Amino acid sequence: MSASNASASGQFILGDITINRLGFGAMRLTGKGIWGEPADRAASLATLRRLPELGVNFIDTADSYGPAVSENLIAEALYPYDGLLIATKGGLTRPGPDIWAPLGRPEYLRECVMMSLRRLKIERIDLWQLHRIDPKVPRDEQFAAIRDMQKEGLIRHVGLSEVGVEDIGAAQKFFHVASVQNRYNLVDRASEDVLEHCAKAGIGFIPWFPLAAGELAKPGSILDSIAKRKGATPSQIALAWVLKRSPVMLPIPGTSSVKHLEENVAAAGIVLSGDEFRTLDEHGEAAAK
Ligand SMILES: NC(=O)c1ccc[n+]([C@@H]2O[C@H](COP(=O)([O-])OP(=O)(O)OC[C@H]3O[C@@H](n4cnc5c(N)ncnc54)[C@H](OP(=O)(O)O)[C@@H]3O)[C@@H](O)[C@H]2O)c1
Repeated sequence: MSASNASASGQFILGDITINRLGFGAMRLTGKGIWGEPADRAASLATLRRLPELGVNFIDTADSYGPAVSENLIAEALYPYDGLLIATKGGLTRPGPDIWAPLGRPEYLRECVMMSLRRLKIERIDLWQLHRIDPKVPRDEQFAAIRDMQKEGLIRHVGLSEVGVEDIGAAQKFFHVASVQNRYNLVDRASEDVLEHCAKAGIGFIPWFPLAAGELAKPGSILDSIAKRKGATPSQIALAWVLKRSPVMLPIPGTSSVKHLEENVAAAGIVLSGDEFRTLDEHGEAAAK
């Protein structure tokens, strides 16, 4: 299938920045275990350079991807980011491959922001997300540190990740929450209440792991049969479903291959009928239980 353009997914205004809803997740550009340099550095850089050509102008990363590797690759491939919103995150330490540990002490959050600014070669981060609320540090101390950095002009908009509705309310006392990034896909619906809240409040909802469809991607499944009928792949249909689910939905499928990227962007142009959407919805909910 030829690549289409991410603009077909529709637009969302994040704070004061207009983006195409279908974005890109830059976690998979690093080495195994989200640790170190990628096995094929040229492929990772080529994937990043293809993004603007495909209309993808929303890129999600984190200081902990590599760590530092994903942000450095983004700077190498895309600086000065004309028309691109680069969203990053901080607040997780990396003791080793596949290990992630929250650290929300104010001085560490500040270090995260300062180091991301340096690696991305910018003076202000358009969207900085608290990767996790550290349960060992009072939540309000973490929020206050972020508020201060926003007031200083180091951060333009603030997002949260893996939070509940109550956390969002608590954070709003310190700053405007522009986005929430929680795991969500056709068969993982644990954050439905957060999604509903975001839709009502106009907060961008960034579902990570959006391509997952588990058993529903198997040959003969409902996802598989709808995909075949539309001349698409099951992962494209899973993405088309996520996009249709809510206008605040901003999926960030991740890959280190140009071929997969083009396939994912083409999902932006797939239109599911109301019946197809509802059938997938019901099967997805049942599979999630
Ligand atoms: N906030 C958080 O706590 C958190 C946690 C995890 C991830 N994230 C963010 O969310 C983004 C997406 O999450 P994710 O990477 O876990 O899930 P995902 O994007 O749903 O899936 C990525 C996986 O699917 C494969 N893939 C991608 N496109 C494909 C295609 N067209 N056909 C077949 N396989 C394909 C990739 O492998 P190939 O490289 O081989 O294509 C990769 O293994 C990340 O990049 C990151 O920015 C956030």
